[in-house]
Amino acid sequence: MVLSHVFAAASLAAVAAASPLQVFARQNASSPCAQVSAEVVTQTAVATPTVAAKLAYDCITSVPLNQSAALKLLDGVAPYFRWQSNTVWLKDPPADYAEKVQPAIDIWAGLEDIKSKVEDGEYSNEFDFGFALYTLMQQTHDGHFVFIPDSVGSIFNYARPVPLVSVSEDGKELPKPFVYPDILAESFGNASFAPSAITKINGEDALEYLEKWAQFGSLQDRDALYNNVFYELATVSLGPTGSGIGTFAGSGRGRWVYPGPETELEFENGTTATYTNYAKVLVPFTGITDGESLYQKYFTGMLATQTTSADPTNSTTPTPSATPSTTSIPAPGYPPAIFKESHNLIGGYYLEDDYSDIAVLSVPSFVSLEEAEIPFQQVGEKFLAAAKAAGKKKLVIDVSANGGGTILQGYDLYKQLFPQGIGHAAADRFRAFEETDLLGQYFSRTSEQVPRVYFEDPEQNETLWALEYDVVSSVFNYQTDVDVNEKNFPNWPAKFGPFEQKSDNFSNLFRWNLSDVLTPFNSGGIYIHGYGNLTNFTQPFAAEDIVVVTDGYCASTCTIFSELMRQRAGVKYISLGGRAKEGITQAVGGVKGTNNLPWTYIQALTQFTITNLTASEEEAAKLNTTSLVEYWDNTVFQRMAPGSSINVNFRDGIRDGDEDEVPLQFVYEPADCRILYTKEMTVDVTAIWKAVADSAWGGQSKCVAGELGGGYKQRKVRREQTVQDKVLSKRMHQWRRDLSAANYPLDVYTDLRGANLDANGIMWP
Ligand SMILES: *[C@@H]1O[C@H](CO)[C@@H](O)[C@H](O)[C@H]1NC(C)=O
Ligand SMILES: *[C@@H]1O[C@H](CO)[C@@H](O)[C@H](O)[C@H]1NC(C)=O
Ligand SMILES: *[C@@H]1O[C@H](CO)[C@@H](O)[C@H](O)[C@H]1NC(C)=O
Ligand SMILES: *[C@@H]1O[C@H](CO)[C@@H](O)[C@H](O)[C@H]1NC(C)=O
Ligand SMILES: *[C@@H]1O[C@H](CO)[C@@H](O)[C@H](O)[C@H]1NC(C)=O
Ligand SMILES: *[C@@H]1O[C@H](CO)[C@@H](O)[C@H](O)[C@H]1NC(C)=O
Ligand SMILES: *[C@@H]1O[C@H](CO)[C@@H](O)[C@H](O)[C@H]1NC(C)=O
Ligand SMILES: *[C@@H]1O[C@H](CO)[C@@H](O)[C@H](O)[C@H]1NC(C)=O
Ligand SMILES: *[C@@H]1O[C@H](CO)[C@@H](O)[C@H](O)[C@H]1NC(C)=O
Ligand SMILES: *[C@@H]1O[C@H](CO)[C@@H](O)[C@H](O)[C@H]1NC(C)=O
Ligand SMILES: *[C@@H]1O[C@H](CO)[C@@H](O)[C@H](O)[C@H]1NC(C)=O
Ligand SMILES: *[C@@H]1O[C@H](CO)[C@@H](O)[C@H](O)[C@H]1NC(C)=O
Repeated sequence: MVLSHVFAAASLAAVAAASPLQVFARQNASSPCAQVSAEVVTQTAVATPTVAAKLAYDCITSVPLNQSAALKLLDGVAPYFRWQSNTVWLKDPPADYAEKVQPAIDIWAGLEDIKSKVEDGEYSNEFDFGFALYTLMQQTHDGHFVFIPDSVGSIFNYARPVPLVSVSEDGKELPKPFVYPDILAESFGNASFAPSAITKINGEDALEYLEKWAQFGSLQDRDALYNNVFYELATVSLGPTGSGIGTFAGSGRGRWVYPGPETELEFENGTTATYTNYAKVLVPFTGITDGESLYQKYFTGMLATQTTSADPTNSTTPTPSATPSTTSIPAPGYPPAIFKESHNLIGGYYLEDDYSDIAVLSVPSFVSLEEAEIPFQQVGEKFLAAAKAAGKKKLVIDVSANGGGTILQGYDLYKQLFPQGIGHAAADRFRAFEETDLLGQYFSRTSEQVPRVYFEDPEQNETLWALEYDVVSSVFNYQTDVDVNEKNFPNWPAKFGPFEQKSDNFSNLFRWNLSDVLTPFNSGGIYIHGYGNLTNFTQPFAAEDIVVVTDGYCASTCTIFSELMRQRAGVKYISLGGRAKEGITQAVGGVKGTNNLPWTYIQALTQFTITNLTASEEEAAKLNTTSLVEYWDNTVFQRMAPGSSINVNFRDGIRDGDEDEVPLQFVYEPADCRILYTKEMTVDVTAIWKAVADSAWGGQSKCVAGELGGGYKQRKVRREQTVQDKVLSKRMHQWRRDLSAANYPLDVYTDLRGANLDANGIMWP
């Protein structure tokens, strides 16, 4: 589907920074919010002021609950909940999922429960209400199903001053948690320094504490959630659009969870360390005297600007680019690249010496920046060609930290690797209900009146261009996709169905038509390898010469890519890290829904259908009496935190041949091999890639569960070194010698304010 210019959504105004010139209002020092205000005013030199976590929490929980506004917000979210594809599966998941992954959750009952608690006065403040609503959605562990109320995300982000890592001493023993700066000190400082593992956190068994904390994350898989607690090189390389230094330290979903006033760590060596937790203050506190004034200033719809102004008539509105689109996001622990996209979204690397036959494609994203779409594809193309030309024999693909991005980039990367490969992943479907039916009818009717044509320059015919972009190329036009027999649908009812399952209704199964002339409108501008004029390609590596490694944080488009790589091409997958438990883990631990829709986009679609796809005012008025009338209200957009992604999971993925049609989200899939993190892997990413190569192609397998070796020929470890190999070797050794603890930032926090949150296959951190 198109997240088009016309519906350019989610472009929230950046929150103004505190102005040092503003007059400091008289404060009531006995109220926590007044104290925050007083402390913020002394920090004019810093971009983001901070206060003690407890003070922030006392302030936010002093905001009184406005009962009528809370009920209005609950009414406002309900229409968007209807778009969530897997409600009945969340409520009644397969036993395997409930046992190994996450328990059942009934979102409609949960919403009712919150409503009756509001009515009964059971929430003592606005934050407790907001956090209950946030948690209802977060507990689905469907990373596409998200709403962040203002009370949860607008005012404060929480943090701990110390990131952790979880590492195995020797790659075989179960991992233990460590303070990351200790590992850095050991790696780069004092050879004699021996970091001691953490045994207790706030008096509780450390492993139990961390597993519980991990559950605040957005992924479904518990081992992937566990990894996301910690500092990771791949997430850090994404800067503020990734989950940074881990949820424990306040990145990713950790930023919205109050960690308590302090964090006390007890170590194996018997010592303890106590850290004061803090909160980042995201808005000016000028004039705030108490919880009530905080409410008046920030919870009455003034903060989030009118996102739905997404003016459907303004086809030329450029998508705002993300604040973090700087060209200098550090990627500590990554060696010099052969080719790299400038935001580190994709990079190609070679390994040295005994590993000089190995090429590595690191892909921590499938693109969330418009300006990166074409460069992303080009890095893949150029690197694969260069690796072949340089005589590389094996390819490691690292998709750690990959929350997805643009769906068709996932298809394209697979088709770059397997140009002759089958061109569909799982089949898609969506909930079949009144709104999706109406949209389909109107989008399809309009589309039937124009040819399906692509042209790049809107000025050639602006009206037609806008129609093609917004309507004709949409999933709500039945001509856009194909059925499971690769045939076009004859009409909208054939695509819509509905088909009943578990007392809910779903559309027919459908697939992307990768030869579609309108592909660039759905792909951010790229064509797909293997289609159109991109057909003369040879497969660069055999499937058994490729292996994919993940940290479990592989979501959305990354899971589509993985379905293609595993099911179509038979490529093996390795999972890293995981809980301190024996056994195999899943490699793909993030949402496996195949398309998210921002609520802003849903609103724009419904309004646009009424105002622009009807033939007369009478018809519009009539359509405005259907369920589409429920999307005019702006409460949810006024009460969402700025810079948050509010989404539903729109499409389920249904694997070919699955007669039970279980959405992939609920299918448990162990990796082929599990490798534990070592200390070295937390400072030098090539240690991961070498362990992968050893495990996949001879050398010494590092798999602690599963295995890859069977059937593969022994890797010829040492090939004759070319001149280029020797140059690279020198460069790699120099790079490693130059590393120091100072290269590893300890303050990479998730911040999506100002980012363009429009991607169509992404789980935002
Ligand atoms: C100061 O704040 C406290 C606690 O919120 C409140 O009880 C008191 O009435 C306030 N005093 C003034 C002068 O506003
Ligand atoms: C509570 O919210 C309603 C809107 O639902 C608003 O009209 C009213 O002014 C708010 N009350 C306070 C005290 O802010
Ligand atoms: C070496 O270790 C000692 C004791 O832990 C510490 O005081 C010192 O700062 C360390 N030196 C460096 C260079 O890290
Ligand atoms: C014990 O281990 C912790 C964590 O690595 C370290 O900070 C501390 O200096 C160690 N204490 C002693 C006495 O070795
Ligand atoms: C949509 O409808 C509005 C009002 O009816 C009109 O002004 C606008 O031009 C239409 N936009 C498009 C893209 O057709
Ligand atoms: C369309 O968007 C552009 C860029 O944001 C803006 O400058 C222009 O004023 C908008 N036009 C209308 C009619 O809203
Ligand atoms: C633009 O496209 C529409 C729809 O095909 C057509 O009716 C119209 O004549 C075109 N306008 C121009 C200026 O070519
Ligand atoms: C499913 O669709 C059928 C046909 O439109 C309808 O009769 C039935 O009530 C729907 N079921 C649900 C649970 O919405
Ligand atoms: C796919 O799209 C192309 C171009 O828009 C079209 O010619 C073709 O009929 C579509 N369907 C199939 C099954 O390829
Ligand atoms: C493929 O077609 C597109 C659109 O016509 C064009 O921009 C691109 O240069 C072509 N690529 C090749 C390799 O011919
Ligand atoms: C396809 O590729 C082969 C080998 O690279 C080349 O010889 C041939 O000219 C290409 N054909 C076309 C139509 O581009
Ligand atoms: C549709 O109905 C809503 C609610 O009555 C109203 O606010 C809106 O302006 C109407 N829109 C149109 C285009 O009729």
